[in-house]
Parts: sequence; C-alpha cells; structure tokens
Amino acid sequence: VAALAVCAVPFKGLAAIAPRIPLRAKPLPLTDVRLRPSDYATAVEVNIAYLLSLSPDRFLHNFRKYAGLEPKAPIYGGWESDTIAGHTLGHYITALVLGWQQTGNAECRRRADYIVDELALCQAQRKDGYIGALGRKTKDGQIVDGEQIFPEVMKGQIKSGGFDLNGSWSPLYTVHKYFAGLLDVHGAWGNAKALTVVTGLAGYFETVFAALNDAQMQELLGCEYGGLNDSYAELYARTGDARWLAVAERIYDKRVLDPLVAQEDKLSNFHANTQVPKLIGLARIHELTGKDDPGRAARFFFDRVTQHHSYVIGGNADREYFFEPDTVALHLTESTCEHCNSYNMLKLTRHLYGWQPDGALFDYYERAHLNHVMSAQNPANAGFTYMTPMMSGAPRGYSQPDEDAFWCCVGSGMESHAKHGDSIYWEGDDTLFVNLYIPSEAQWKAKGVGLTLDTEYPFKPDIKLTIDAVKQGAFSLALRIPGWANGRFGLSVNGAPVSVTPANGYAVVTRRWKKGDVVALSLPLDLRLESAPGAPDVVAVVRGPMVMAADLGPSEMDWTGVEPAMVGEDPLAAFAPIVSDRPRYRTQNIIRPANLAFVPFYSQYERRSAVYFKRFSESAWKTEEAAFLAEQARQKDLAARSIDIMHLGEMQPERDHALTSELSYPASYRGRNGRDARSGGYFEFNMKVKPGPLLLQATYWGGERKRSFDIMVDNVKLATQSLDNDKPGKFLDVDYPIPEALTKGKTSVKVRFVPHDRSSAGPVFGVRLFT
Ligand code: AHR
Ligand code: ZN
Repeated sequence: VAALAVCAVPFKGLAAIAPRIPLRAKPLPLTDVRLRPSDYATAVEVNIAYLLSLSPDRFLHNFRKYAGLEPKAPIYGGWESDTIAGHTLGHYITALVLGWQQTGNAECRRRADYIVDELALCQAQRKDGYIGALGRKTKDGQIVDGEQIFPEVMKGQIKSGGFDLNGSWSPLYTVHKYFAGLLDVHGAWGNAKALTVVTGLAGYFETVFAALNDAQMQELLGCEYGGLNDSYAELYARTGDARWLAVAERIYDKRVLDPLVAQEDKLSNFHANTQVPKLIGLARIHELTGKDDPGRAARFFFDRVTQHHSYVIGGNADREYFFEPDTVALHLTESTCEHCNSYNMLKLTRHLYGWQPDGALFDYYERAHLNHVMSAQNPANAGFTYMTPMMSGAPRGYSQPDEDAFWCCVGSGMESHAKHGDSIYWEGDDTLFVNLYIPSEAQWKAKGVGLTLDTEYPFKPDIKLTIDAVKQGAFSLALRIPGWANGRFGLSVNGAPVSVTPANGYAVVTRRWKKGDVVALSLPLDLRLESAPGAPDVVAVVRGPMVMAADLGPSEMDWTGVEPAMVGEDPLAAFAPIVSDRPRYRTQNIIRPANLAFVPFYSQYERRSAVYFKRFSESAWKTEEAAFLAEQARQKDLAARSIDIMHLGEMQPERDHALTSELSYPASYRGRNGRDARSGGYFEFNMKVKPGPLLLQATYWGGERKRSFDIMVDNVKLATQSLDNDKPGKFLDVDYPIPEALTKGKTSVKVRFVPHDRSSAGPVFGVRLFT
C-alpha cells in the first residue's frame, strides 16, 4: 500500500495527552446521516423502490379479516399465506421507518402511519387488545385465526415444539415483529397512536403469560419467540411502567440462557436465529436495570458466536443451526449464513458497543455488514438471499420480488438495506467516533458540527473527512483503526502528518476544529489469509475488511462438488493484481485444478464463488492429491446422482417436503440433525423420483442399539431395518433399492418411517434418493 505514510512527527497544535475514550456512546440518529454515492446508497435506493412497490393492504389482509373487517386487497403468497402470516408486516413497518430516517422519503412515513391507523381499527374491533394475522392449521389443513391458540395456552394446553405452538408457526416470533415495528413508528416521529396500539397488544399477552406458572411458561418459551423480551423492555423504557419490565424478564428461556449466564457454550445444535434475539433482549434489560447477569450472557454469547461459530463473512450457522465450536471447516455447505442471524448479531453488537466503545466490536460489525449483509441483496432486482453459501461453487438464491417470496430474511433484508448510514458515527462525551468508512454526510447536533466522509474504501485505502460546519470547535475525532491493520495507518490533518498511538482500536485526534479542516486516513489494504476457527489449513483470502472470493463463473454453471485447493508455501505471493476499478487478482499456479481470478465476495451476486480453500504444501499435496480428488469425485458423483435430499429435523426442508408426523420429534447428534418417532407414531414426507431403478439411502448413528422399524414407500413396505451397534463411533449409510414398480409414472412418492412396538424409528439423520 504505497499511500501509507506512518509518521513519527507529532502534529503541531495537537494536545499531547493520552487519548481518553468515553465510557459510553450512542449512534448519531439516522436522520442526521445521509449517504453519498456508493454501493450502500444504491442498496438503499433499490430497497426503498422495492418497499414502495409492495402493498400495505395486502400485508394487512389477515389483520383485517381476523378482526372481522373486510380486507382491502388479496393476501400475499408464500409465508404470508402460512400460519406465520403477519411477520412481514412487522419488518415492513420498521423498514419504512428506517427508510424515512435514512432518506427523508415522505411516502415511507405516510405508509407507516397508515398501517398504524389500520392496526388501530383492527384492535378497536377486537376489543381485547390483540391484533394479528397469524394462523393455526386445523386437522383438515385449513388455516384459521391463530388467536384461538392463546385461550388454550392460558388453560395450560401447551403443545410447543421448536417452531410450532398449538398448530401455529412461531406465533410469538411473529407478534414480536409488529410489536417492534409499532415501537419504531412511535420512536421515530412520536406517533402516539402507535404507542397506544402496542400497549394494548402488550396488555393482551401480559394476561396470557400471567395465567401460566413458571413451568408452563418455560414450555411455551420452548417455541421460538423472537425478541419479544426486547420489545417489552423497550416498552418499559418508553413508558416507565414497571409491569412491562416484569414481563420482559419473565420471557426468559432458561434452557438456552442459563448456560450463557454461567459462561458455558452449549450452543451446538440450537437453532441460531431463535437464540440471537433473546440475547438482544437481555442486553436491553441490562441497560435498563444495570443487572449483571443479562449483560454477561449477552457479551459471552457474542464472543463465542463471533470467534468460534462464525464464517469469514461474519455469518453463522449451517442449515440454520449452531454447530460445535471451532468446526466451521466441517460446515462449508450450501445452507450457511442465514441473513437474519447477521442482521440480529449486528443489533447485538450495537448494544455491546454502547456500553463500552471498543473498535474490535466494529471490526466484527464491518466484516458482517460488508461481506454478508451487502451480499444478501441483489441490487439488480432488489431480491434477498436466505442463505449465503460457503460451499465452493454453490449459487446464491435471491428472492424474486414478484414471486410472493416473504421468508424471514426478506423481512430482515428490507430492514438491513434501508439503513446503511446506521452506526457509521457514534457520539460519546466530547468525542465523535467514526466506525465505518462509508461515503456520507453527517450532522453532529450536540456540537453543531457538519462533516463529509469521502472515500472509495474498501476498494482504495484513502479516507477523507472534511469539517463543513462547526459551532463548538473543541472535540475529539476517534477514527477506528481495524485490528487487521496491525497498527499500520497513515493520518494527517490539513496535510500535516499526525502521529498517534491507537487506544481501544481508535486513532484519536483532539483539537479545536474549524470549518474546512480535512482529516486524511489511509489503511493498509493488503491481502492476507485467515484460517477457519479450529482449522489452520482451511483458509480464506481477505483484503482489509473485504473477503475475496475466487470467481467460478456465472450461476448457471454447475460447480457442485468441485472444491479448489490452494497449494504452495507462500500463496499470497502468487496473487497478481489485475488493473481494474475494483480489486481483482489472478493466481499463478497455486490453485488446483486451475488458476482463478479473485474478486470481492459480496458483489458476486449472480456468480459462483469459492471462499474457503484447503491449503497444502507442495509435498503434502502430492500425497493428498489422489485421495482428495477421489473423495471429490465420489461427492460429485453422489451429488450428480441425487434426485432429492431430505434434511430431517430441520424446519425448512421438512416444510418443503410436506412432512407430517405423530409422536415424532427432531433429534441431533454429533452435529447432525435428524428425526425420530416413538412407538405408535411415524413421520412421512414427499421425495422426488424419476423413472428407472432408484436407491433410497438413510443415515443412522452406527452406535444405536435395539431399534427396529419399517420404511414404507407409498404405503408399501420397502424394508424392515434393525439397528444394533452396527458401526460404533460413525454414521452409517444404508441403501435400499426401490422396486421400479413403486415409482413408475410418478414424480414423487411418500416415504414413511414407522417404529415397531417399543422401539423408535432411528433417529434418521437424513434421507437421500439417487439413481
Ligand atoms: O421461524 C421463523 C424464522 O424462519 C426463523 O427465525 C428463521 O431462522 C427461519 O427460517
Ligand atoms: Zn431468515
């Protein structure tokens, strides 16, 4: 990085005192930050156009219908036509608020107010404080008003699974979304009606919870509840009414949170996005009460997730679930890094930072924001990802805005891309922190300061801050010096080099500022390798804050199963820069099977990419090559022959395969999810088939003892399976040939596992159908 001028000469006129980092900080309001042209500004623009293309009345359909009012427009499809209906409206309200705060777009504000008016009408009609669109599934598959489940719950009739409560999909998660949205409208411009409506809603659920004893409450909380504790805590903050704090503190899932208070990482096999919001709630409770335990749990969770459960792009979880700590390299799959998780982790980071400004927290924030969140929206059509695959060659899947795609990450995506000016600037005492180097203009009202940040970072190293206006001139500017810079940076004020030793991750410049002052910062954007946690020989290429990926071509090309390897003693020496407006490198003889171009990962929207590489020395590669390639060929062959794969015990695949069951439950073991059924029960699901002889493969734990069960295909017995410690210490794949007659002329079959008397059906850790 030629532009780096690290200077030892103290700047004349600077106070020669050790930098003092304020103990607390808060972000500048989003209304005081405007974005200048960059990919971030484009993302906001594209997202707001998308938000305004949606119909509030369609999102409000069920709210009106279940309140006994005529809907004004047809219901949306996808998840909005499922029992989780209404979750998108909550995200939508928040996104409109953020969109208004970020850009001043008046239509965003008008729509948010309109939705509040509509919800107030629905609430008045219902009379008990409740508002909702969520449904419950009846035995004959119809969806009816989900409010019915709450009187049952109050009577202690609680059938709660990870995502199902009495036939409704995560109802409290859904309630949290519009609870939070209403609070956001109230917080943004003081819409008093929003506070009245949300208070009514809060009162309804206060009554529901009050009917439950502690054991019943814990049973209820076994079903995903989003950040409902956070919303109640926030309602307490807004109103000062202690009854809301009491509810917030009672919404505490002991099974997950007690170990975190005790500083134990037992996260493996817990559904990730179910947990993160619980910790945001605890963080808020800590802020409002000063209690230690909730704050300690939140901080411990953050440290464990970011250091032991996260991928290089800052995302976490495989197929939505946490895995064993430091096993990232064993989880490079097509279903990694759900967007909601990072959206929530960034919220959590903001809380922790507010308690004690520490640049390292923003090292994580920047990593996840740039490499994950920015990858999750396709600026070409405003679509959002659900997962961001870390498996080499797996394509990203974006929602089609006209496709009724309203999954969870579409909702969190609407919010993430309405607020890229958020968290760039923070204020604390007499200090303005600059945490993200995103082109923008800001007003720091406390000091009457206006400033502009110009940069092409993270592509180029130089960042320029200009003071445009100033009333009270004496203050400190704290510029984050990322950990990866290893203390290397160049800093000048009005062209004169400044020497400062960073404290808490900041270079702090204190002086009497005047209009026209210019601060220039330069950061070293050289390449480095980062190992996956727990796997020193599995590496990713990073340039400053930006993950670089090998470009494997357009999404239509199929790279499944092909895993490029990195071979050589000094891989970085083999990256040759290519002249381009954005960083681009070509490798020379270190990547097998072929040289590749490396480009910024996040903007590979419609390309296939490789992020992680298994690393070999030349000599190790010779030994490994044959086995490595043979295994790759086996995996590729299996992938190519696969017609359908069923990941049992996981919500989305089970929904996609229309799983039905009785006396059945998800199971997990050694990092794998599965499903089991008790004697008298079963589980059954659809699998795609095609003509010709097929094999059904089921995976079991090889140490299982005394199990016996039948496997049926379209009600015909395919096999009886007994398990009795057949492969100790390993997973066991068993293949069952399917007679052609069973699949002839069909495009799908129903596969059913039925335990024998006094046995269970496995558990089964996945089923695959292949040729
Ligand atoms: O169950 C609601 C949401 O859908 C979960 O939080 C998310 O992980 C899932 O896919
Ligand atoms: Zn999601």
